[in-house]
Amino acid sequence: MNISRLAHIGIAVRDLEQQIAFYRDTLGMELAHCEVVEDQKVRTAMFRLGETSIELLTPTGPDSPIAKFLEKRGEGIHHLAYKVDDLTGALAELTQRGVELLDKTPRVGAGGHRIAFLHPRSSLGVLTELCE
Ligand code: CO
Repeated sequence: MNISRLAHIGIAVRDLEQQIAFYRDTLGMELAHCEVVEDQKVRTAMFRLGETSIELLTPTGPDSPIAKFLEKRGEGIHHLAYKVDDLTGALAELTQRGVELLDKTPRVGAGGHRIAFLHPRSSLGVLTELCE
């Protein structure tokens, strides 16, 4: 398995438009794109930051995992995403090493990338995403 860099930091927010204004207009970051990821019941906004990105996430409904996160933990850092070259291979290796996965097989995330989440129980409380 080869993690080459931090792909993005996911931040859970209640009001996406207000937070977009903060990151774009106040911090002056470049908004790369906005997208609805039906599969995860989220609306996202990606800000490019050199080699990495900031991913703002807001729920599209009360049954979204992000809605549950906001309820429990409030707004803030939700997950870290690492770039890997071979996601299927990485998941097989992690399973062998006893890591619990939320996604046993890759699924399609924001930007059409193949992604998978590790269970936070297996990653010391930090929700971890691998991104191909
Ligand atoms: Co992400």
